Amino acid sequence: MSLVRDLNFFTKPLLAIESSCDETSAAVLVGREIRSNVIASQIELHAKWGGVVPEAASRAHVEAIIPVVREALDSAGVALSEIGGIAITNRPGLVGALSVGVTSAKALAMSLGIPFLGVHHLEGHLCSIFAEHEDFPTEHVALVVSGGHTELVHVQAPGQYRLIGATIDDAAGEAFDKGARLLGLGYPGGLAVQQAAKAGNPKRYKLPVGLRGDTTDFSFSGLKTAMLRLTEVEGDRINIADAAASLQEAIVSVLVKRTFLAIDETGVRALSLVGGVAANVALRERLSDEARKRGIAFAVPAFSLCTDNAAMIGLAGSWRLERGERSDVSLDALPNADIWDANPV
Ligand code: KG4
Ligand code: ZN
Repeated sequence: MSLVRDLNFFTKPLLAIESSCDETSAAVLVGREIRSNVIASQIELHAKWGGVVPEAASRAHVEAIIPVVREALDSAGVALSEIGGIAITNRPGLVGALSVGVTSAKALAMSLGIPFLGVHHLEGHLCSIFAEHEDFPTEHVALVVSGGHTELVHVQAPGQYRLIGATIDDAAGEAFDKGARLLGLGYPGGLAVQQAAKAGNPKRYKLPVGLRGDTTDFSFSGLKTAMLRLTEVEGDRINIADAAASLQEAIVSVLVKRTFLAIDETGVRALSLVGGVAANVALRERLSDEARKRGIAFAVPAFSLCTDNAAMIGLAGSWRLERGERSDVSLDALPNADIWDANPV
């Protein structure tokens, strides 16, 4: 069985850049070690709209990219001239936002005469566990949960991904965000729901889980409708803490149930939890407890590596660069891109 510690990572200092959505981030890595991971969030900019405004995001990336890269180098104590390669998110995401990072990475790599590589954002999330879990098997089941994704993935080896199940409509993060908005808890909603849920009773309101029976797919659009109905029916009487706790319980319980269905189906004895929603404490605890009971290895990244960040892009780009993979000037920013069954090792 191959473990994370058996993988070969890029040996020279690596600069990583992520700008696919509303976070401008740059990181410096040496091997699996993260020397810095700077994140400039645009949350305040987009909060008044209740979601990401693509054009505003692109402009904010343009303003932030150079200071963020400079800060990542400074706090790592690494000079630009010492950087040996660059990993850059080029797919999928908001095309204007991605373009800012891709263009900057190309310009830097060319002026320094060093290699660079376009990285799939989802592969970044999948590889975010590599920083800390050296004894974790490279073959595992991954639950990827973010604002744009809800997927169960059989990671056969790094670069070899088989899709087991996915949401047929909204992502888990969207369910948190839309629920939070209906409850007046602000944007982005995941953390706000988690905090409000602490004082609440998760059994107070019955909410639907979507899709019946033994399936590894998900559906969260019914939950959104049920939340809307709940706020209309209850009006001012609604108990926000109980509603937040019930919403969190509905999302977490269906994620846990179907994840272990995927574990049973594949027979794989290792599980990772990645993506922005992996920051949810209830989800981390429930998956970890259940994994322990069943004797299944469990890995979840540190909180700072769950939501979008450049360090995870560096971790994904590092082993590929070490294998000799390179991008060239023709590298494009792609709004859509699959990774299933692609790029086998
Ligand atoms: O991975 P990410 O930063 O961006 C995407 O690639 O989508 O994920 C952002 C999502 C948002 O929907 C946010 O509400 C959710 O992650 N999130 C959480 C928590 N922290 C962030 N959801 C539940 N509980 C949290 N603590
Ligand atoms: Zn993400």
